[in-house]
Amino acid sequence: MLHSQSQHLAMLVICRTPATLPLQEIARMPPLIFAGECRTLQQRLAKASTGDAFVLFGGDCAEAFSQFSANRIRDLYRLLLQMSTVLAFGGGVPIVKLGRVAGQFAKPRSAPTETINGVTLPAYRGDIINGPEFTEESRRCDPWRLVRAYNQSAATLNLLRGFSYGGYAGLSRVSQWNLDFMKNTPEGHAYMDIAKRVDEAIQFMIACGMDTNMPFMRETEFYTCHECLLLDYEEALTRLDSTSDNWYGCSAHFLWCGERTRQLDHAHVEYMRGVNNPIGVKVSDKMDPNDIVTLIAMLNPHNTPGRLSIIVRMGPQKLREKFPALIEAVQRSGQVVTWVCDPMHGNTETVSGYKTRRYENIRAEIEAFFDVHEKMGTVPGGVHLEMTGDNVTECIGGGASISEDDLDSRYHTHCDPRLNAEQSLEIAFYVAQRLRQREWDSGAGVKGALEMLGPGGRGAGVGLKARCTKVSGSSEEGMADVPAGQRDQVWWHVL
Ligand code: PEP
Ligand code: CO
Repeated sequence: MLHSQSQHLAMLVICRTPATLPLQEIARMPPLIFAGECRTLQQRLAKASTGDAFVLFGGDCAEAFSQFSANRIRDLYRLLLQMSTVLAFGGGVPIVKLGRVAGQFAKPRSAPTETINGVTLPAYRGDIINGPEFTEESRRCDPWRLVRAYNQSAATLNLLRGFSYGGYAGLSRVSQWNLDFMKNTPEGHAYMDIAKRVDEAIQFMIACGMDTNMPFMRETEFYTCHECLLLDYEEALTRLDSTSDNWYGCSAHFLWCGERTRQLDHAHVEYMRGVNNPIGVKVSDKMDPNDIVTLIAMLNPHNTPGRLSIIVRMGPQKLREKFPALIEAVQRSGQVVTWVCDPMHGNTETVSGYKTRRYENIRAEIEAFFDVHEKMGTVPGGVHLEMTGDNVTECIGGGASISEDDLDSRYHTHCDPRLNAEQSLEIAFYVAQRLRQREWDSGAGVKGALEMLGPGGRGAGVGLKARCTKVSGSSEEGMADVPAGQRDQVWWHVL
């Protein structure tokens, strides 16, 4: 038995209709992923723990049945490819792409009910359980939604595999990944700048005799992940791998345990202990340094690199205060983890009745994450974003300056607010800058990068370029006389 039956009732009590038949049906279905893929992903995540790769997690807070379409999957996928290009270009390391997709349906909730105008109904728990509409019928749990979620996941993954291995993700298409509505934005232009340089590099390599049919030119690895919340669903898809004789959760390559379900003696941790996928745990400022060491020892008893990612989500202020003690405890115990920053879940607020997040806070948390690692001499391994390829208005701020008043124009999420395509790409440029800075701090300096710009600089970078010559070891020092709103822009053109 993979987890204690007595412990895993917590999520089940919300659904009074027996789920036996749908679960039996899912248990007969093929696995969505293969154990060998999980082992490869684990190796990639191990590289991220030492700074030799970087992980990009991204996708919806909650996938929705009503928003399921090939175009939406494609737009998320190509935005992740764009962001990976920016990150790889800036950081000079491979980017591990993990979509919060093809299975990210179940949502943990802080309150079991929701009250609107004096009417109280069960909370929405994700399309795999009930519906988002505020009616009694919609909020009633329907176990056949489990089968629908499986089917949507299978169809989504099928398309993602097609994109990854069928030519769409080929490096020669880098300039075609720009989303139409992004073409006239500063991020879109900065992206095309990089795409042009990638194209030039490829042309150069072809001229040198490189074979464009090599897999790395035509394909890319893409992995899926979701919160491991609905244990009955996960258990129905838990399979024994005949190659290794080990158990794998076959609903996604990577599963994580949420902040609300990571208790040491609860069922979710018990389940995760039993599967061999690479896994993650979300950690807020409430995590105690001693407890994190115990939790890591439970989930990764052999201290296998890449097995466990700790996904930190505290908000910028608390992260600066509390994160160092966690790192210190983990370092002292000799445990190997991949540290990932989730700058979304510690920054949620309600504005004009909308659940939203401010771009500046999201960026500030990533900044704090990199700063703390820099100070501790440890490795920032990745970022975990709630984002969409759609042109939504759910998070405030960023280059497009979405204001509080814009929130109701295209607010489509069923759960948490997501970064739109422009805001996501902007974040990617910032992270790329921090990754590049690591290289500079280790000696290369900004000089080489400026030389890459060529005589006269490039486009909008020209006016800002002169100021960059002041940048030496530390970015903040060199950026002192550049107005705050223009700093990311400076870096884009230095990248
Ligand atoms: C999530 O990732 O959507 C989520 C609910 O995260 P957390 O467990 O960190 O709150
Ligand atoms: Co969320």
